[in-house]
Amino acid sequence: MINPHSKRISAEINIPGRKMDFGFNLAALPKYWYGNDAFKSTYMGALSCQFPEGERMFMDAVRDHQDKISDPRLLEQIKGFIKQEAMHGHEHSQFNKFLDTVGYPASKYEAFQKKERIWMRKVIPAKHMLAVTCALEHFTAIMAHQVLTNPEATEGMDEQFKELWKWHAIEETEHKAVAFDVYQEAVGSYWIRIFAMINITIMFTARTSFLQMIFLWKDGQLFKPSTWFSGFKFYFKKPGMVPSLWRDYIDYFRRDFHPWDHDNRELLDQWNEEHSNFKTI
Ligand SMILES: [Fe+2]
Ligand SMILES: [Fe+2]
Repeated sequence: MINPHSKRISAEINIPGRKMDFGFNLAALPKYWYGNDAFKSTYMGALSCQFPEGERMFMDAVRDHQDKISDPRLLEQIKGFIKQEAMHGHEHSQFNKFLDTVGYPASKYEAFQKKERIWMRKVIPAKHMLAVTCALEHFTAIMAHQVLTNPEATEGMDEQFKELWKWHAIEETEHKAVAFDVYQEAVGSYWIRIFAMINITIMFTARTSFLQMIFLWKDGQLFKPSTWFSGFKFYFKKPGMVPSLWRDYIDYFRRDFHPWDHDNRELLDQWNEEHSNFKTI
């Protein structure tokens, strides 16, 4: 059974659609905007490339189950979730224009992913698409926690982009349980959820790495030992990605897991205090 305390927290979370417009000054940005580091900058670029279409897929998956939801609070949270993901897609598209201008095939990849999304919606059952969404939302939530709590995760980022990633991380935290709560009410199968997570762990890691390899290859950085040394530190040197994330990742495999078992509401309060004058949509 899902932890009732976590479910209560989930119902309490407000999910506002914030109107954001970072208006990046792309011409002023260095190619390696993240600590002047080719590996870290291309890793984040590879993630960003996948966001606009990936987030459209999440919105579709949740919308496709809306009619099975009767809880008015969850229905209200679904509206916030959709607004937030739409805005993420919009702002990351701006970031992806930057990737195009520095010579990466970001738009080409987005066009491919759009076709893939439309095809997947036709051939994959909706409950599996929702399970995939829950798995990816877990990934984004645990990575977002690192962005917000581990100073090394954002150290050296260009200030314009740092704000984008922090805002995205906050909203991923706010809505981390929406797809999951919809899944529990509309589908509920433990094994479909776990199957999707195993699948996504392989696919998401492989796809991100593949995109990143293309970027590094285009830059002539792929075969440099310094690139791989930086990659090794990024993934494995404490508090790198693997040591920081694996425990939170593994929790997803518990039968009674709920995203708000990782209670990090204080991060939302803190950010909201510092950014109280945003416009809503
Ligand atoms: Fe998002
Ligand atoms: Fe999300």
